[in-house]
Amino acid sequence: MCGIVGYTGPRSTARVLLDGLKRLEYRGYDSAGAAVLTPERVEVVKALGKVRNLEAAARKKSEFMAATGAGIAHTRWATHGAPSVINAHPHLDNSGTFAVVHNGIIENFRELRSHLTSRGCKFVSETDSEAIAHLISECYEGDLVQAVAAAVKRLHGTYGLGVISSRHPGLLVAARKGSPIVIGIGKGENFIASDVAPLLSYTREVMYLDDGDLAVLTPDSVEVRNVENVPVEREVARIDWDADAAEKGNYAHFMLKEIYEQPETIANTIRGRIDRQLNSAVLSGLGLTPRELASVSRVVIAGCGSSMHAGMVGEYYFEDIAGIPAEVEQAAEFRYRNPIIEPDTLVLPISQSGETADTLAAVREARNKGALVAALCNVVGSTIAREAGRGIYLHAGPEISVASTKAFTSQITVLLLLALLMGRNRRLDSTDGARIADEIEQLPDLIRQVLDQAPVIEKIARRYARFEHFFFIGRGSLYPTALEGALKLKEISYVHAEGYHAAELKHGPIALLDENHPVIALANNIPGRDKMLGNIQECRARNSPVVALVTAGDAAVRDLAGDVIQIPACSRFAAPLPTVVALQLFAYYVAVERGCEVDQPRNLAKSVTVE
Ligand code: M6R
Repeated sequence: MCGIVGYTGPRSTARVLLDGLKRLEYRGYDSAGAAVLTPERVEVVKALGKVRNLEAAARKKSEFMAATGAGIAHTRWATHGAPSVINAHPHLDNSGTFAVVHNGIIENFRELRSHLTSRGCKFVSETDSEAIAHLISECYEGDLVQAVAAAVKRLHGTYGLGVISSRHPGLLVAARKGSPIVIGIGKGENFIASDVAPLLSYTREVMYLDDGDLAVLTPDSVEVRNVENVPVEREVARIDWDADAAEKGNYAHFMLKEIYEQPETIANTIRGRIDRQLNSAVLSGLGLTPRELASVSRVVIAGCGSSMHAGMVGEYYFEDIAGIPAEVEQAAEFRYRNPIIEPDTLVLPISQSGETADTLAAVREARNKGALVAALCNVVGSTIAREAGRGIYLHAGPEISVASTKAFTSQITVLLLLALLMGRNRRLDSTDGARIADEIEQLPDLIRQVLDQAPVIEKIARRYARFEHFFFIGRGSLYPTALEGALKLKEISYVHAEGYHAAELKHGPIALLDENHPVIALANNIPGRDKMLGNIQECRARNSPVVALVTAGDAAVRDLAGDVIQIPACSRFAAPLPTVVALQLFAYYVAVERGCEVDQPRNLAKSVTVE
């Protein structure tokens, strides 16, 4: 959730660190800091709030800005101790020799703190991370790498670490257990980061650390050692994303840019994955033979937030298209509920980041129970993608905005492709396969048609922005779409929004309906649409303002609802995608009208790497 950048090389270290932190701003944070090495000491700058505050503070220190060599930086999302300058990273030991940035949670930090205090250490912050700096100092006998190796052995919990020392200019040490660290390999310079975004302007060659790894970086070398301190080879991967993909361009916000990218990102998700001869899908990352695929008796999908909602849409696809029983688990529950998983159960963890702690735990639990596991991730080389061993990448490009948009539609597209593959592997005939393949190929165009209506959606959203409570209702696969629409609205505009199955409204929530509770009704012309008309009437009868999402030309609904957003005619399989794009735009414009920080909503982080 926090962000790490580290550098060793000839450039201005401060520049690389500050630029890198800006590219991590999307992760969500409350404070930031950086440490560089000057000839005399470790020089640290910290600031509350945005990276621009840190930059302003850094510019006042000419020594800091002039430094070259090793440096580390961090954006913090508070876990232990309030957001404050003191609690911001990097943390130093009492001699000011060792600086540490840390992502994760040190579970035995109270024990460590009392041990270190008894040895004379003075803690200045309330953080668990500070203990690591003191511990390294305690373990230090002239060799920084050995000191970090000894220190991490005493840590319980999770960490992604970057460490520098004034005694070792040019040396940068990183370690990982449970919190991702990726190494960027340059020419005469090397980098570490918590994800690839800060590295893209400098290099595409990256190496992901595994749990227990420790990496030793100088400008000219990268060496990785495992828990036993034995040098190990880690694969060098090449990242296809270019730096521009992680820039806002002419858009006011990353979220808007990512909403508009969807025709293209969905096309990328589909590219090369439809087999027109078999009228099926080609998903080579799955690594399952047709026989293995045919032996799957059940699909269990695990994810959190938007990824879970995508899974709920997928549930309809697997049952409807492939005739396979499917269910969706909130990933955190998956582990603790001790689910029944058999060898012929296919578990599909879904995660944009590939780093969500609960989804990762679900992967481990499913593998432990002997299930077939195939991950749907966007970030290539992410922990979930690697641990699952097989899977399908989304190819949606970097998603920077905290609110997931393009990853969500690509997740649904991948689920539809997989259901087509599994359907054709079973009872779905070639003609029906061809029809679904056509529908998949039309998705980018459907999205384009919704984007063309952005001005209408904006107008409606601006009028509705004054309300504090919303209901989103839908049926069939538009039920999870309603949940996603409500999530989008609440996370970026801080408006109370609840997603409900339209039929469930009468079982309690209807008591709340009045002129202050607008209802967003997903009333596209797919199964359940007629019943939705009845539900809209019920809402209108209680004076609720209703915005209906309707199939273009559906006059019956248009007359019932106060406001209407037209969704192009499409099948029930395609419908969640154009519909959710309209809801993304609606949420976006409400948030803008309310003056909210669209890309970095309060209290949220892009990737939730703690439970
Ligand atoms: O990276 P993941 O897909 O695993 O993230 C899961 C959720 O944290 C994420 O979808 C979250 O709900 C987003 N803020 C939704 O916009």
